[in-house]
Amino acid sequence: MEKPFVFGVATSGDNFTDREKETQRLLLNFAHGVNTVLISPRRWGKTSLVKKVAQLSQDSKRKVVYIDIFSCRTENEFYRLFATSILKQTSSKWEEWIENTKQFLSHINPKISIGADPMNDFSISFEYNMQNNTENDILQLPEKIAIEKGIQIVICIDEFQQISDFEDSKTFQKKLRSVWQLQQHVSYCLFGSKKHLMNELFEKKNLPFYKFGDAIYLAKIETKYWIEYICKRFENTGKHISPELAEEICRLVDNHSSYVQQLSWLLWIRTINTATTEQLSYALEDLLDQNNILFQSETENLSAYQMNFLKAIVDGIHTKFSSKEVISKYNLGTSANIVRLKNALLQKELIETNGKEIVLADPVFGVWFKKEMLY
Ligand SMILES: Nc1ncnc2c1ncn2[C@@H]1O[C@H](COP(=O)(O)OP(=O)(O)O)[C@@H](O)[C@H]1O
Ligand SMILES: [Mg+2]
Repeated sequence: MEKPFVFGVATSGDNFTDREKETQRLLLNFAHGVNTVLISPRRWGKTSLVKKVAQLSQDSKRKVVYIDIFSCRTENEFYRLFATSILKQTSSKWEEWIENTKQFLSHINPKISIGADPMNDFSISFEYNMQNNTENDILQLPEKIAIEKGIQIVICIDEFQQISDFEDSKTFQKKLRSVWQLQQHVSYCLFGSKKHLMNELFEKKNLPFYKFGDAIYLAKIETKYWIEYICKRFENTGKHISPELAEEICRLVDNHSSYVQQLSWLLWIRTINTATTEQLSYALEDLLDQNNILFQSETENLSAYQMNFLKAIVDGIHTKFSSKEVISKYNLGTSANIVRLKNALLQKELIETNGKEIVLADPVFGVWFKKEMLY
């Protein structure tokens, strides 16, 4: 039987809801070769959205290439993955990859390795030699392929924030931007989480990616769409849930996409006919238990001041942390301390800024933290 709720991996088909406006906007950008920058916190639905649009947008005249650079730690790894993914995803048969690799990268002497299943197990390595302009050749690869094949190419790079960890990242970013902005047949969709990091890449005037493209801050999926989705998934599998209880799921996890699906799943497996409030509270316990170890390890090395800062947020304080009342009520030290606390917690990805407000990055962490505070 089909799984009614999906979490932990990108979702699609019947497990994908809403995002109509964002889908249309991305489709337009892809069709017209407009560069896009898509930012949201983790697990709100970037990958799912881009993969969906990639599928819809693809046709004989337009190829969409998807690259996840999460595991890339160096520029060289980036170039390898970039070249391999583009060659693979712009060809339909593996013979064509080989052909293209030889044709487009001949002068950098690529070494091609093919596994037992050539359709999925194929990689290129090359001598890394600055002299023969390898990097530039690889960055120009999509433009060359697009011209040669008479197609348009859209390159989607997931977890793009990763490049800010590369050695001498700023020089690397400059290189990317200077090549990419001149390409006529290729556009880019760069997306990632760790909101503050992505923001830095694209919003700091002195960094190369400033104003690179149409910037989209992915919002949360609204409650009405979630209610419709949850109720339908229950109905389709012969179970029932009231719209009120579906709404309660959204409220408990603050509409966080992945948690809405996970909590719905935990409730669905407990439900025999119609879901009850009691079952939902057990499902929530389950969710907290599953995250307990993670949350514990995230908090065990925090200083007392940092813990106090989190307590204030959980208590509903989102602005004016350096006011006298907040500092003394929550014992946050001096007002000079506030910026340091905020930055440290941002760095640990426990909090996020939302306009002028400071909020918890993870709503379930908030529920857990509140409970822990009682003891
Ligand atoms: N449009 C959507 N409809 C329903 N659930 C979604 C949607 N987008 C995301 N989700 C839920 O959120 C989870 C994380 O989505 P993902 O696309 O991997 O997020 P991100 O790339 O932002 O980290 C998915 O596994 C799914 O449970
Ligand atoms: Mg993702």
